[in-house]
Amino acid sequence: MPDLMEKVVSLAKRRGFVFQSSEIYGGASSVWDYGPLGVELRRNVADAWWSAMVHARDDVEGLDAGILMHPRVWEASGHLSGFTDPLVECRACKKRWRADQAPEGGCAAKASLPKGTDKSCELGEPRLFNLMFKTFMGPVEEEAAMVYLRPETAQGAYVNFLNVQQTARQRIPFGIAQLGKAFRNEITPGNFIFRTREFEQAEMQFFVKPGDDDEWWEYWRDQRMGWHRELGIAPERLRLHAHGPGELAHYAKTAVDIEYEFPFGWQELEGIHNRTDFDLERHQEYSGKRLAYIDPASGDRYLPYVVETAMGVGRAALVVLVDGYREEEVAGQSRVVLGLHPALAPVKAAVFPLMKKLGLPEIAERLIAELRRERIPAMYDQAGSIGRRYRRQDEAGTPWCVTIDGQTKDDDTATIRDRDSLEQVRVGIDHVVGWLRERL
Ligand code: GAP
Repeated sequence: MPDLMEKVVSLAKRRGFVFQSSEIYGGASSVWDYGPLGVELRRNVADAWWSAMVHARDDVEGLDAGILMHPRVWEASGHLSGFTDPLVECRACKKRWRADQAPEGGCAAKASLPKGTDKSCELGEPRLFNLMFKTFMGPVEEEAAMVYLRPETAQGAYVNFLNVQQTARQRIPFGIAQLGKAFRNEITPGNFIFRTREFEQAEMQFFVKPGDDDEWWEYWRDQRMGWHRELGIAPERLRLHAHGPGELAHYAKTAVDIEYEFPFGWQELEGIHNRTDFDLERHQEYSGKRLAYIDPASGDRYLPYVVETAMGVGRAALVVLVDGYREEEVAGQSRVVLGLHPALAPVKAAVFPLMKKLGLPEIAERLIAELRRERIPAMYDQAGSIGRRYRRQDEAGTPWCVTIDGQTKDDDTATIRDRDSLEQVRVGIDHVVGWLRERL
C-alpha cells in the first residue's frame, strides 16, 4: 500500500498537480504548490463543497473572514492556552516528534549521528508546544503588536455570528460556511499534502437551539458522509470514528471523524463537532458584547449551540487522487487512470485531430474554441499517436476525449471516448457541447 502513495506522489509531480514549495531552494518543509492541474482539482473540490453547502440550501450563508484577527479572539477561543501538542526531542540527534508519534524506545537514529557522538538516543520529557504561527501587526515587533495566523476558519464565523444573522435575516437554525487558509506549526507534518503547515479549510458552523444539537449533529454527520460518497469515493474506504473522552478537542461535547483508508492507514478526512455554546459564550465574556439570539416568534433569548463540519480541502483532494488512481491493462497495454468524478476533473474534455492533415486540426481548433467560449475546461492535443494522447488524458483524469477524424469531414460527427468504459460514440460536432453539458 505505501507503494500506492509513492505512485500518487509521482503522478502528482509528473503531471503538474502538486510541486514542492520553493523547490529550487531545496524546498520549504511541508508546504506544497498546486500546479495547473492541481489548482483546478482543488478549486473543483472547494466549489463542489460550496455548491452543496451554500448554493443548494437556504439555511447556510457564506463568509470570508480575515486570516488575521484580533489577538483576544485566540485567548477567548482557548487556542492560546490549549492548542498545543506534546513535543518530545531526542537528546542526541535533536529530532522532534509529537509525543504520540515518537518511535518507541528512542529514535533509533544512532546510525545517522555525526561520528564521535557517544550520546545514546534517548527521548526527553514531553513539553507543550503551541501550534499557532505568530507575526506582528504594524511596524513595531513587540509583544503588544503580536497577532496569529488563524489555525481554523471557524472563529471568523463566531465573531460575525450576529452580523451574518441580522444582515441575511436568518433565523435559527442556520449556518455560516467559509473556505479559507489556516496555518498550524505542526510538529510532524508529512504524508505529502495530508498534513501541512499551511492548508485550506472548508468549514461550516451551524447555529441551533440548545437541546436540538444532538439531532443536528447526526444530520450533518450523515450529510457530509453522503457528500463524499456522491463524489465517487469508495464507500468501503470511508468510515466514522467517534471521539472518546481523551480525544475530544477542548471545545467539543461530541465529535466524529469521517476517516478514509489512506495507503498509510485510516486517518481523519473531516470532523463533525458539537461545539455547544463554548465559543459564543467565551467571545461574549472576552469582548463584553452580547451575542445572544432573540427568537422573533417566542421572544426567547439564548446563546445558540454550534454543530461544525470541518474539512481540509487539500486533504480531500488527496483522497480524490488516491481513491481515483488505478492501473489497468487495455488491449495488451498498461495504462494509469485517475478515475475522477467529472465535476472534479481538472480538464473535462480533450480534443484531438486524428491526423495533422486533411484540415482536421482546423476543425478541432474550432471545436476547442467553442468549448472555451462555453467555459468548459478543455485541452487540445495533436502530438503523438492517438493511443499516447489517450494515456496522457487518462492520467490527468480527463473523462472524455473527442477525436476529429476523416469521417468528420463527411458527416460532421466526432468520436467521444469515455475514460472509464472506453466506449466510443459518434456525436454531431454541433452537439458536442450539449452532450458534455448533460454529463457535467
Ligand atoms: N475548526 C475545527 C477544526 O479545525 P480539525 O479537526 O483540527 O478541526 C479540520 O481540522 C480538518 O482540517 C481536518 O479534518 C483536516 O481535514 C484538516 N486539517 C487539519 N489540520 C491539517 C493540516 N495540518 N494539514 C492539512 N489539513 C489539515
